[in-house]
Amino acid sequence: MPRCRKRSIFVISPFLIILFVLCFELHYWAMQPSNKVKWPTNPCPHKVVTDTITALKYSHTFIVSSYQDNREQNLTRVIAIVNYKKVQDLYCWFCCSHNRRISIIRAAVDIHSERFELPFGSADIVCLEPQNCSPNYVSVHSSSKGNIEELPQFEIRNRVHSTQFSAEFTVCLSVMVENHSNVLQFLQSMEMYKILGAQKVVIYMSSYNQSVEEFLKFYVAEGTVEIIPWPITSYIKFSSFWSSSPQWHNGKTTVLNDCIYRNMYRSRYVVLNDIDEIILPTKHLNWKTMMNSLENQNPETGIYFFESHFFPQSVLSSIDRFNVPLWKTVPGVNILQHIYKVPNRIWLNNPRKMIVNPRKVIQTSIHSVLKGYGRTMEVPKDIAILYTCRAHNRKDISDGYLIRDPAIWRFNASLISNVNEMLTKKMFYKSFKFTWKTLIKTIASILK
Ligand SMILES: *[C@@H]1O[C@H](CO)[C@@H](O)[C@H](O)[C@H]1NC(C)=O
Ligand SMILES: *[C@@H]1O[C@H](CO)[C@@H](O)[C@H](O)[C@H]1NC(C)=O
Ligand SMILES: *[C@@H]1O[C@H](CO)[C@@H](O)[C@H](O)[C@H]1NC(C)=O
Ligand SMILES: *[C@@H]1O[C@H](CO)[C@@H](O)[C@H](O)[C@H]1NC(C)=O
Repeated sequence: MPRCRKRSIFVISPFLIILFVLCFELHYWAMQPSNKVKWPTNPCPHKVVTDTITALKYSHTFIVSSYQDNREQNLTRVIAIVNYKKVQDLYCWFCCSHNRRISIIRAAVDIHSERFELPFGSADIVCLEPQNCSPNYVSVHSSSKGNIEELPQFEIRNRVHSTQFSAEFTVCLSVMVENHSNVLQFLQSMEMYKILGAQKVVIYMSSYNQSVEEFLKFYVAEGTVEIIPWPITSYIKFSSFWSSSPQWHNGKTTVLNDCIYRNMYRSRYVVLNDIDEIILPTKHLNWKTMMNSLENQNPETGIYFFESHFFPQSVLSSIDRFNVPLWKTVPGVNILQHIYKVPNRIWLNNPRKMIVNPRKVIQTSIHSVLKGYGRTMEVPKDIAILYTCRAHNRKDISDGYLIRDPAIWRFNASLISNVNEMLTKKMFYKSFKFTWKTLIKTIASILK
């Protein structure tokens, strides 16, 4: 009997081995999708872009970012800069997350209507998302043929719509001016945004002054500032004629559009202005109470305009007033001393900046929304003004005509204390660093 059993084992064992191998294979095969094992042939994600600007080969097109936009249809909207005269056919190469197939869709290139007569400008590259695809990555290519592994892939953001906003107000500052040396006004603007209710300030950085950078570190550390590198000048170089155009400002409109989509499901409102501008309520004490009141009266409105009031930097109210001792060491303009404004010419369209519900915006420009949903509203100056404090370059206005408007003074107490706090923090940090250095030096000298 034992012999016989042994033999039967010999007979059965090949089958057992086959069965075992089969089971293992089946199990392994079944585990593949949930285990997310990457096949060497898996096309997505392959070359995912992390830079803010990507130049497409041979197509005079620069890609910034891509977002899902399902407000009307399931679209992927790619924020881009194109050369208007050289727009080619473009294709979206979607990586479907369902079956890992590539789906190639012809794109519509929606060039923003405000072109400022420049050769380059903002455009949306828009593609209908294929059904049953749920793409997480997209490539843009000038042909429907090619190898996906050679194309840069962009993550499609905004696929998850949070209804819990992490910020009530986000300020989108357009490209930070190069060698910005007006440190005091930078600090005052930042603190004013916080006093008025900004939880986040997004800054697109081209290049910046060291003295501003030291403060930026603090704002980044406390979570107020998000810096997005914007090395546009290494991609697009204009002759001095074009780059001096105030409308270009290193791709300002593209930056604003990216900022709107980036914060679409993160922030209840987005505030669009420059660092030398503050949307200053004249009735309410902060943006939240102001916007609540405006929204209650205008429930259909998602886009609010604020008219610029120009306070020349050259005109001081009084040197003694608000001459805060701690501020004397900081270079730059003290906005509390600039309360004389140029009268707005009623027959002219004065520049405006905006507070928007980002979910109501499709395409924005600097002073207007090019495409959006719902109504817009011009906020009267007895509710808020756009306080603009910059160098005087209008020769047609003599100082005698200026109007006194101390709206900024309402915030003097909190502004002074907040700016002082920031300056103290920085001084403390510097002396702290100094002590460590001296301590290490002392120890080193003892050890010698
Ligand atoms: C968009 O896609 C989702 C799922 O991917 C689908 O349920 C929905 O119907 C689509 N919407 C439109 C307008 O096609
Ligand atoms: C920035 O620096 C350049 C050269 O260093 C200078 O010509 C220009 O005036 C500076 N701009 C400002 C705003 O300081
Ligand atoms: C940075 O700002 C400081 C202080 O205003 C100024 O002295 C310096 O020239 C600026 N640096 C650059 C590179 O603009
Ligand atoms: C400064 O702010 C304080 C407190 O808000 C206020 O009482 C005072 O009137 C302000 N000063 C001026 C000159 O407006």
